Amino acid sequence: MKFAASLASIASFASLASAINIIISNDDSYVSSNIRATYQSLKNAGHNVFMFAPAENQSGKGGTFSFPSGNKLERPSEFGDLPAGSPAWGYEESDNHIWYFNGTPAASVAFGIDYAIPQFFSNIPIDLVVSGPNEGANAGAQLYTLSGTIGATYYSVGRGIPAIAFSADISNHSYYKDPVNGWLAHKDDESFYANIYAKKVTQIVNALVNTTSEDNASRLLPLGVGINVNMPYVGAFAQEKLGVTCPDPEIVYTRLTGGAQSFTVLFNATSGTFVWSYVTPNEAPGINTAINGDVSLPGETTVSKPQSCQIALSAFSVDYDAPLNLTNEVHSLFEGIFSS
Ligand SMILES: *[C@@H]1O[C@H](CO)[C@@H](O)[C@H](O)[C@H]1NC(C)=O
Ligand SMILES: *[C@@H]1O[C@H](CO)[C@@H](O)[C@H](O)[C@H]1NC(C)=O
Ligand SMILES: *[C@@H]1O[C@H](CO)[C@@H](O)[C@H](O)[C@H]1NC(C)=O
Ligand SMILES: *[C@@H]1O[C@H](CO)[C@@H](O)[C@H](O)[C@H]1NC(C)=O
Ligand SMILES: *[C@@H]1O[C@H](CO)[C@@H](O)[C@H](O)[C@H]1NC(C)=O
Repeated sequence: MKFAASLASIASFASLASAINIIISNDDSYVSSNIRATYQSLKNAGHNVFMFAPAENQSGKGGTFSFPSGNKLERPSEFGDLPAGSPAWGYEESDNHIWYFNGTPAASVAFGIDYAIPQFFSNIPIDLVVSGPNEGANAGAQLYTLSGTIGATYYSVGRGIPAIAFSADISNHSYYKDPVNGWLAHKDDESFYANIYAKKVTQIVNALVNTTSEDNASRLLPLGVGINVNMPYVGAFAQEKLGVTCPDPEIVYTRLTGGAQSFTVLFNATSGTFVWSYVTPNEAPGINTAINGDVSLPGETTVSKPQSCQIALSAFSVDYDAPLNLTNEVHSLFEGIFSS
C-alpha cells in the first residue's frame, strides 16, 4: 500500500493555498449536511465556491441528463426545504453562490457551467468540480457508473474540467437544518462527521492547488482524468456506532478494481416481482480485472470500510478504450475477415 504521507503536511498550509474557482454538486440535494459543510470549508479556505446541486435526491442516476419539466417545482424540494410551486431553479437569498436545479447531478453541473456562470458570473473559468460527499460509499466500477455523485464528475472530466468525487460510508440522509442531527446544529463541532469530511475535501483540494504551478495556465489534473475518493466512518459517529476512534483518517492510494461488488436480480415468488441483490467480487470478474494503471494498488472497495479509518483515493480516466495489447488482440480476432 502507498500512503500519501506528504498530503497532510502540504494541506496544513491550507490558508496559503491560492484561491481557485470551484463548482460543488452532489446527488443527495442542495440541502444535505455534507454539501453544506463542504461549501463552508472550501469557502473558509479562500476559494471561490459555487454550488449547483439537485433540488431533490438524485441518487443512482449516474451520468443521466434530466432537466426540470417546467419552470416550477412540482413537489417540495428535498426535506420540504422549498414548497411545491417554487421556481425549478434558483439561488438562496442570503448567498447567490448557492444554487439548486431540479435535474440530475450531471445536468446541475452543466446548468452551472453553461448557463448560470456565463449569465450571472462573467463566465469565469471553473478550475475544479467537487461532487459530494455522498451519503454512502461509491467504490468499484459498478458504483462508478451508477452513482449520481460520480456521474457529475465523469461528466465534468469529459468537458475538460478536473473533478473529484467524494463518498462516505456514513449514509444518513441528513437535512442541514435538522435541529438534532443537521450540520447547522453542529457547525462548530469538530467531531461531527460532516465537518471531518469537509476538512478532508479541503485538504485534498488544497494539496492539488499547492502542487500545481501557478505560472502555468495549468490544470489541477491531466485532461481526461478525475479522482474518486471514499471515506470511512469518522468522528463521534465512528465512536458511537463502532467504538472506533477516527478523528482524521489517512489517505491510501487505490484503484477501482479489486474486491468490487456488482448486482443481480432475485425473483421474489411471493410478490411475483424482482428485487436487486449484491453478487460477490468472484461473480463480477470483469470489474475486478486490473488492466490499466498501477495494478499493484489495492481495490478501493477493500480499503474503504466503515471501521478502517482509511480514505481510498483512486485516479480514473474517461478514456474507456482498451489498452493497446488488448486492442490488438481484439483486432486479431478479425484477421482475414475485415481488411484495414
Ligand atoms: C433516493 O433515490 C433513490 C433512487 O430513486 C432511492 O433508492 C433512495 O431510497 C432515495 N433516498 C432517499 C433518502 O430518499
Ligand atoms: C443516523 O441515522 C440513525 C438511524 O439510521 C440514527 O440513529 C442516528 O441518530 C443518525 N445520526 C446522525 C448523526 O444523523
Ligand atoms: C505546465 O504543465 C504541463 C503539463 O503538466 C507541463 O508539461 C509543463 O512543463 C508545465 N509548464 C510550466 C511552465 O510549469
Ligand atoms: C417478497 O415479497 C413479499 C410480499 O410483497 C415481501 O413481504 C417480502 O419482504 C419480499 N422478500 C424479499 C426478500 O424482498
Ligand atoms: C497486456 O499488457 C499488460 C501489461 O502491460 C500485461 O499485464 C498483459 O498480460 C498483456 N495482455 C496480453 C493479452 O498480452
